Amino acid sequence: METKVIKIDRTHPDTEQIKEAGRILREGGLVAFPTETVYGLGGDGLQETAAARIYAAKGRPSDNPLILHIAEVEDIEKLAVDIPELAYRLAEKFWPGPMTMILKKGPVVPYATTGGLDTVAIRMPSDEIARAIIKASGTYIAAPSANLSGRPSPTKAEHVIEDLSGRIEMIVDGGNSDIGLESSIIDLSGEVPMILRPGYITKEDFEQVVEEVTFDSAVLATKPQESVVAKAPGMKYRHYAPKGQITIVEGDTEAVVKKINELAAEQEENGIRVAVLCAEETKARYNCRHVYSLGSLKQEKEISAHLFAALRSFDTEQMEVIYSESFENTKLARAIMNRLRKAAGYQTLQV
Ligand code: TXA
Ligand code: MG
Repeated sequence: METKVIKIDRTHPDTEQIKEAGRILREGGLVAFPTETVYGLGGDGLQETAAARIYAAKGRPSDNPLILHIAEVEDIEKLAVDIPELAYRLAEKFWPGPMTMILKKGPVVPYATTGGLDTVAIRMPSDEIARAIIKASGTYIAAPSANLSGRPSPTKAEHVIEDLSGRIEMIVDGGNSDIGLESSIIDLSGEVPMILRPGYITKEDFEQVVEEVTFDSAVLATKPQESVVAKAPGMKYRHYAPKGQITIVEGDTEAVVKKINELAAEQEENGIRVAVLCAEETKARYNCRHVYSLGSLKQEKEISAHLFAALRSFDTEQMEVIYSESFENTKLARAIMNRLRKAAGYQTLQV
């Protein structure tokens, strides 16, 4: 299949392009589109065959449920039942935006979309292009991140082209993702609201609206969770990992820089391709040939926005060993470290 790539001008979006994307989706086709978190691989969430095509295009196991994307808050009433009052308060505060809510599934949503679950994940993105495409489709759009299963989520159209070209009808290029990490997922289907995936909206943010909110044990994991049945089914799968092994070096900054320099020098001497992943503040202190700065620790979104692109570049540049700093001192630390730990297969070194 030939994949059509179209570039959207964000200041003057071409309505014909948006309409075409909407038509493809309505007819059961697949369109990758930008959102403020990561690029999504969209298909009609109410058509079983479209959902099946999404799983096939990504190479994703079909018990890993999809998120349904909507353009209006009221749409939750079409997709979910027994909606708690809290859902409306959360929507009021965080939608449109990087929050996904888990609610009880309504009958129109096929099990093919929810991975067989009786609950449904719903998000209203803040990206205007995303919402325009959802509206133009006239339906609700199931959209996982637009990467091949196991690879880092795409934060620019080039990443989507790399993974899905030839597998889907259209890719809408809307530039770089603003946040760069997938949405925060909060499960409202149980007694106490539970965060299943940490993201831009933090526990502290949720606590402004919710009295009590807990974390799913998998979110707090610093070790592999093989034996635990994670509440968010996606969490049990291998994620984000580049081919090279990442080791996260944790501790006092001085000690971390020293240790990474030692380890990297040793590997380079042995002819191994080594990369260092760090913050802008310490970048100049590494002697290694390949040093990747994610940005300044003082800029909330720099580290998050650049993480997945860095992970992808390690494969492009055939890095065999990667030493990473820990990015604990930022508002988004929990979300960032959750992804980085998975990418490292939880390999850390304490100094
Ligand atoms: O930011 C995002 O959420 C992006 C953009 C495209 O919107 N989408 C995204 O989708 O990250 P995906 O498929 O990569 O992650 C969806 C995850 C699943 O792996 C699963 O962990 C969780 O959402 N999920 C979906 N439905 C669920 C449900 N009914 N119960 C529990 N977890 C669910
Ligand atoms: Mg994903």
